[in-house]
Amino acid sequence: MADWTDCLNFGISIAKQASEVVLSAFQQHKEVKLKSSPADLVTETDQRVEKILISAIRNRYPQHRFHSVLPRSTVGTLSTGSTTFHCRNPQHRLHSVLPRSTVGTLSTGSTLFYHVLLLEPSAQAPLCSTMFYCWNPQHRFIGEESVAAGEHLELTDSPTWIIDPIDGTVNFVHRFPFVAISIAFTVNRQTQFGIVYSCVEDKLFYAQRGGGAFLNGEPLHASGQQDISRCVVVTEIGAERDDVALSTMTSNIRRLLQLPVHGVRALGTAAVDMCQVATGGADAYYHIGMHCWDIAASAIIVQEAGGVVMDTDGSEFDMMSRRVIAASSAAVADRIAQVIQAFPCCRDDEDNCGCGATGVN
Ligand code: IPD
Repeated sequence: MADWTDCLNFGISIAKQASEVVLSAFQQHKEVKLKSSPADLVTETDQRVEKILISAIRNRYPQHRFHSVLPRSTVGTLSTGSTTFHCRNPQHRLHSVLPRSTVGTLSTGSTLFYHVLLLEPSAQAPLCSTMFYCWNPQHRFIGEESVAAGEHLELTDSPTWIIDPIDGTVNFVHRFPFVAISIAFTVNRQTQFGIVYSCVEDKLFYAQRGGGAFLNGEPLHASGQQDISRCVVVTEIGAERDDVALSTMTSNIRRLLQLPVHGVRALGTAAVDMCQVATGGADAYYHIGMHCWDIAASAIIVQEAGGVVMDTDGSEFDMMSRRVIAASSAAVADRIAQVIQAFPCCRDDEDNCGCGATGVN
């Protein structure tokens, strides 16, 4: 299995750098534009931070795009279906078992891993003196503000960075101190890692598939609470203001309070809200109407902290569905799924969904 630790570490470093831009603008006056509703805001800083993040990722690995360096004739094709995976990125310990003269592209489903050859002896590759490095120059991006500007939103098998430059833009505009940079990375539509950097709090949440979840380097553990009546539940009102959405959201809160739960909270950023479940500070979170960039990173953080993530109808979590429950246990998640209702909300990857900017002003 591929190891994306290098990408994770790079994502963490650029999230920290980008947070300086967010923090320097935090106390300043902001020019605010409206997107899909009067409560769905964007500022120049959201757009700037997204551009910084995407161009940093694009620039990070130019040396790995070697097809301009290697003669075309040395390129071959390998399939991972029937054979082994040989091509590794620089962080991978597995040495190449390809013949030294072979360099190739490697297909995994519809993902094409491009070939990279770096001639560098390595102690980690005792069987061959040449390490093979591979990288996919076709990394894709799903960025909140790019989608708002009209980019097509589709999650494919390709390695994909899902970016929310400022989650909690309303907070940012009002200087309410919960704003986060959220970065997730998927391959074959499966999230490999997630990073949520809560800038004002200086809290870095992150998780890598199979590697646990962390807050500022310390392991995170969900509370494990099984009893809904002992839960603190986090949710968000979101940007929808139509009657059906509002009455559904308020009646959901009412139903939970009547169970009763210990309390209902909202911080104004879905990413940070959901990370509270990973810390054990909250026992559950649910939301209808958010977007994939709001919760893609925090979903894997909750799962790696031992929590459960599912759709509000109790089915498997689908980051494009715009519905999510994250909980300390399956029992609590199931109970919330029984109690709450979802209002109609088109999928993030549905054409003409109107998820992005609509020119409301
Ligand atoms: C919003 C926040 C908010 C949630 C909205 C999101 P943004 O993200 O996560 O908590 O209620 O649904 O759109 O627009 O600030 O990135």
